[in-house]
Amino acid sequence: MSDEEAHQRPSGRAESMLRPSGRAESMLRPSGRTKVAGVIGDPVQHSLSPALHNAAFTHLGLDWVYTAFAVPAGQGADAVAAMRVLGIEGLSVTMPHKDDVAVACDELSPAAALLGAANCVRRKGDRLIGENTDGDGFLASLRVQAGVEPAGMHAVVFGAGGAARAVIVALASQGASVTVVNRSADAAVRAAALGAAAGATAGVASSSAAMVGGPRAVRDADLVVNATPLGMSKIDPLPFDPALLRSRQIVADLIYRPERTPLLEAAASAGAMTLNGVGMLLYQAAGQFKMWTGRDAPIDVMAAAVGLELAG
Ligand SMILES: NC(=O)c1ccc[n+]([C@@H]2O[C@H](COP(=O)([O-])OP(=O)(O)OC[C@H]3O[C@@H](n4cnc5c(N)ncnc54)[C@H](OP(=O)(O)O)[C@@H]3O)[C@@H](O)[C@H]2O)c1
Repeated sequence: MSDEEAHQRPSGRAESMLRPSGRAESMLRPSGRTKVAGVIGDPVQHSLSPALHNAAFTHLGLDWVYTAFAVPAGQGADAVAAMRVLGIEGLSVTMPHKDDVAVACDELSPAAALLGAANCVRRKGDRLIGENTDGDGFLASLRVQAGVEPAGMHAVVFGAGGAARAVIVALASQGASVTVVNRSADAAVRAAALGAAAGATAGVASSSAAMVGGPRAVRDADLVVNATPLGMSKIDPLPFDPALLRSRQIVADLIYRPERTPLLEAAASAGAMTLNGVGMLLYQAAGQFKMWTGRDAPIDVMAAAVGLELAG
C-alpha cells in the first residue's frame, strides 16, 4: 500500500469512508454537478488544504469538493492542461510546481507575474489565471492576528525561497523596508531586488552573513520573519542568535508544523509578540476560496478544521 493509500485508509466509520481527505463537518455527496477544486504538489498527502476548504464548502452549503492530487515534479504544466480538460474550477499549487504552473497559465496576476510563481489557478471564462495569495495571506495574518500595519516597519526576512519572496514583495509593496538574510548570497540579492521592484523604501538590502550568530539587522527590526525550514525538525539550529531579540518586536515563523518552533519559544521568552505560519496558511487559502467561489471564506471554520488536523 502506498503512503497515499495508507493515509486514506478508511477508519471504519461509514461516513468517513465517503469523505474526501479532510474532516468536513458533514457528509459530502458529490454529484455530476459538483464543482471540483484541489491542490497539486509532490509530496501532497499531508496537505491541510483539503480539510480547510472542504470544511468551508460544507459550512456554506456549497456543492464543491476539494481533494489532493499527487503530481510528480516536472508535471505542473500537465496538471494545468488537465484542469482545462477536466473542468476543474480551482487549483492550489504547492512545492515544487509554483514556477511551472505560472508559465502554463494564460494570464498572471501582478503578484504572480512579479514572483514568477503561482500558488493558485482560477478560471476566467475559458482562460486560466495564475494568482499568488501567499503574500496577501502573510499580510492578513500580520494585520488580523498581530494588529499591525507593515507601512514604515523595518523587517528582516530570513530565507529567499518561494515563501520568503512572497513575504518580501508583500511587505515592500506596503511600504516596509526589508533586509533579506539568506544562506546563499546570490538568492538573497535576487529576493532583495524583487522587494525593490515591488516599491520598497530605502533599506532593501541583502546579506550573506552567517545565519547563526545573527546579523545586527535583527536588533533594529520591528518585524523578524523566519521563512526557512529551520525549526521543522527538533535538531535544527535556530536561524539566528535569539539573544538579539527584544520585547516590542514581532517574530513570525512561517512554519506551522510544529505550531510552536524553538524560535517562537525564544522570541516569547524575550517578550516579543509571536506569530506562527497557521495564519498565513489560512488567509492564503481564504483568498483562493474567495476567487473561486465568490464567497467570503469562513475563517473560523477553516481555522477549526486546521486545528483538528494539527492536533490529530
Ligand atoms: N505558512 C504558510 O502558509 C507557508 C507557505 C509556504 C511555505 N511555508 C514554510 O516556509 C518555509 C520555506 O518554504 P519555501 O517554500 O520558501 O522553501 P524553499 O523555496 O525551498 O526555500 C527555502 C529557503 O530556506 C533556506 N534554507 C533551507 N535550508 C536551510 C538551512 N538548513 N539553513 C539555512 N537556510 C536554509 C534556503 O536557502 P538557500 O537559498 O541557501 O537554499 C531558502 O532560502 C518552509 O518551512 C515552509 O513550510 C509556509
